[in-house]
Amino acid sequence: MSKKGRILSGMRASGRLHIGHLSVLENWLRLQDEYECFYFVADLHALTTAFDDPGAIKENTLAMVADWLAVGLDPQKSVIFVQSDIPEHAELHLIFSMFTPLSWLERVPTYKDQVQQFKEQGKDIMTYGFLGYPLLQAADILMYRADAVPVGEDQLPHLELCREVARRFNHLYTRIFPEPRAELARVAMLPGVDGRKMSKSYANDISLTASFEEIKERVNAMITDPARIRKSDPGHPEVCVVHKYHDYYSADRIAAIEEDCRAGRVGCVACKRALAEKIDALLAPVRERREKITERYVAEVIAEGARKARVEAAATMALVRAALKM
Ligand code: TRP
Ligand code: SF4
Repeated sequence: MSKKGRILSGMRASGRLHIGHLSVLENWLRLQDEYECFYFVADLHALTTAFDDPGAIKENTLAMVADWLAVGLDPQKSVIFVQSDIPEHAELHLIFSMFTPLSWLERVPTYKDQVQQFKEQGKDIMTYGFLGYPLLQAADILMYRADAVPVGEDQLPHLELCREVARRFNHLYTRIFPEPRAELARVAMLPGVDGRKMSKSYANDISLTASFEEIKERVNAMITDPARIRKSDPGHPEVCVVHKYHDYYSADRIAAIEEDCRAGRVGCVACKRALAEKIDALLAPVRERREKITERYVAEVIAEGARKARVEAAATMALVRAALKM
């Protein structure tokens, strides 16, 4: 194998992707040529919060794979699969759970935060499975003995736990698992159009497959500088959502955009128009490819992905069972 090593990453099956995911996927794409890549949809992880309403998980999973293919993930280069197609993930998770101290899981910073967040929405997720979320993630990663995991910063505590689990397994039994590193990339941390966290459930996101009309509608809804009434009023780009997007997508022109805003030389309508066109240019090819991706093709891709992933999973589980003398 002439590649530099093995990459694994996944996304929780949580519905339609938005523009915020695009930079993550671009990072995945970039790695496809240099590394042996495994990319999967974490549908079991989706069950940790949707256990009372699992009906949408499958549809979300298939839509997510279609979006990945539209962005350019290539099943000839990468293994694209669905977590629940590989039952070994659940088995490895169970084995890890035997030697992982509860305190390791309880101190993962996302845990208490999320339990609290869901409680405020009237939902109790203090389940065994939710506490074990990062442990299942460790099983996902270590199953393929990945060298690196491309993730956003929010996932760093989960990756740290994964390394600790690998170390403990290697120390208790036999050295099987490498300790994977995080592969951080420039990821767009863009807010939703209303300035809150971007989320489909707030209807403040721009879908990865949005039409030009939909893009314009969302960009028009972006919060701008409230102090600007007339075009000639000096603006404050630092308080404006449109500016945050320009800062990411129009990085080459950002100094001029800020100057024009501060000097009252450009109106918000024109500024938004320019942003909508920029975003449309970015999404148009994705949208076109997405329209041509059939359900049947998605089914073929994940069946082939499962076949390849299972070979690796079976090999790892054979080593694990031998290490445990089972
Ligand atoms: N927790 C990740 C997220 O919310 C999804 C995930 C599950 C994952 N298993 C993984 C990411 C393994 C990387 C590697 O996005
Ligand atoms: Fe925001 Fe652009 Fe209006 Fe300035 S001109 S406030 S950056 S939309």
